[in-house]
Amino acid sequence: MAQKLVPPRRWGSLAIGSERCHWRPCDGSGLRAFTYFATVAEDVSKIAIIGAGHVGVTHAAGFAELGHSVAAVDINKQRVAALRRGEVWFHEPGLQELLTRGLRNRRVTITSSFVTALRNAEFVVVCVPTPSTPDGTLDDSALRAAFEAVRRHSKSPPPIVVNKSTVPVGTGDAAAEILEQSGIRVVSNPEFLSEGKAIDDFFHPTRIVIGARDHEAGSRVAALYERLEAPVIITDPVTAELAKLAANSFLATKISFANALARVADHLGADVEELTRTLSLDPRIGPGHLRAGLGFGGSCLPKDVLAMEHLARRSSAPYELFAAVTAINREQRTLVIDHLMVRLDGVRGKRIAVLGASFKGGTDDLRESPALAVISELAAGGADVRIYDPSVRVQLEGVLVSPSAMSAVRGADAVVVATDWPEFSKLDLGRLRAAMRGRVLVDGRGLYDAARAREVGLDYYGFGRGGRQRPEPGTGA
Ligand code: NAD
Ligand code: UGA
Repeated sequence: MAQKLVPPRRWGSLAIGSERCHWRPCDGSGLRAFTYFATVAEDVSKIAIIGAGHVGVTHAAGFAELGHSVAAVDINKQRVAALRRGEVWFHEPGLQELLTRGLRNRRVTITSSFVTALRNAEFVVVCVPTPSTPDGTLDDSALRAAFEAVRRHSKSPPPIVVNKSTVPVGTGDAAAEILEQSGIRVVSNPEFLSEGKAIDDFFHPTRIVIGARDHEAGSRVAALYERLEAPVIITDPVTAELAKLAANSFLATKISFANALARVADHLGADVEELTRTLSLDPRIGPGHLRAGLGFGGSCLPKDVLAMEHLARRSSAPYELFAAVTAINREQRTLVIDHLMVRLDGVRGKRIAVLGASFKGGTDDLRESPALAVISELAAGGADVRIYDPSVRVQLEGVLVSPSAMSAVRGADAVVVATDWPEFSKLDLGRLRAAMRGRVLVDGRGLYDAARAREVGLDYYGFGRGGRQRPEPGTGA
């Protein structure tokens, strides 16, 4: 029975004969003594990963750290070349170091050859993109290409395909019908990591969901993670696939709920921050994803709610809930533009600084970014837009990219804080006001104290954060 143990980062590993051992330097003896935590050779699996992106690279480095041998393949040759040098092509804290270690100890190989990657694979983990199509379903073309590559290039004994991409519900069963003719079994294993904390999420998953028609294949996939402490749910493929869309739809619903509350709060003069705090203290509700603001973006929440709405429509189930979540989310951006139009008496020719371009702080990912949507809308409306983002280098027509937050806001008629980068919370509002030409501040991520912003002379707007007068301590007011 393998230990339920994750080797800490400072541990290394070495192969002795047919065994791979995790070792740890012992303190105190002065000798190069090691404590061995032997794990038999069967614990080490040969894994191919198709798609070396946010999920694929995290899993390549993570599985290697768990002792497995990983070969990741991608169709993008530039990305492959960068990854082979240990350069991760997107911003993900700690991943570069983890990947470099995997490359150095030869547990990770990166390639653009499917033949090389699939040659010895016991498992093929599919991590290709599944973006939205115009009708709201998930585009499965990259998935199909990946399955076809497995069918063509896998050798005997046939591998188990592990679907980690967020797939259209039914993909697992459809793929199994084709691949099982070649003896290849298919298991659904949806992923729940968040960008910006991908490594922590890999090593400390909230749950491991496995959807398998074949129990033995499901158990073998579960065994890949056996050194991690997490509840494992083994179910059928359709339930596993739906569980992923349901999780993201629920997170998105919480955000849109908070944003709907913010609008009521704005109307009544209540404070959304305090409202959501009272909600979050109820363990049945919980604190996550209740921050009102510019709304949710990224490559997953928006597309997965649309996919859920599509499935609900197809199932004659109440799709209106999911449609409302998306509609509320889109309106948040419009509210910002409308506010600026009123406060600045139109945006044409006005200098507007937007702080943040990525869809959330801690990532350089621009996919479905609410910040980017606001930037584009302002530029299209003829505003003189200056932007700053700590990790994103974008080039947009008619938009000037500044090297710092303060240089972006200098001379601005209005400032919109569109992404929750930690450095923006630390901005000195007095300095910001002094650097601006005008005084409009839209706090799109609820980073500032409304009263403090007004104190320094800013014309502050933050969704549901009207800055209601609070009773002074001790006055009984
Ligand atoms: P990504 O765009 O970061 O990476 C995908 C990679 O796959 C790219 O490098 C691309 O070049 C490559 N690729 C595309 N088609 C390929 C093919 N046929 N063969 C080999 N490589 C191919 O995508 P991602 O963010 O890692 O998302 C992958 C999947 O995981 C999606 O279904 C997504 O919904 C899901 N997911 C993503 C996250 C996340 O935080 N990004 C979290 C959970 C689930
Ligand atoms: C999300 C989920 O949190 C992950 O569990 C899931 O695996 C992943 O999608 C996926 O399927 O790809 P991620 O897209 O990295 O992860 O980002 P989140 O942290 O969930 O944030 C999504 C968006 O919601 C961001 O634009 C963020 O600014 C916004 N948000 C988040 C809010 O507006 N309010 C909140 O309270 C929280």
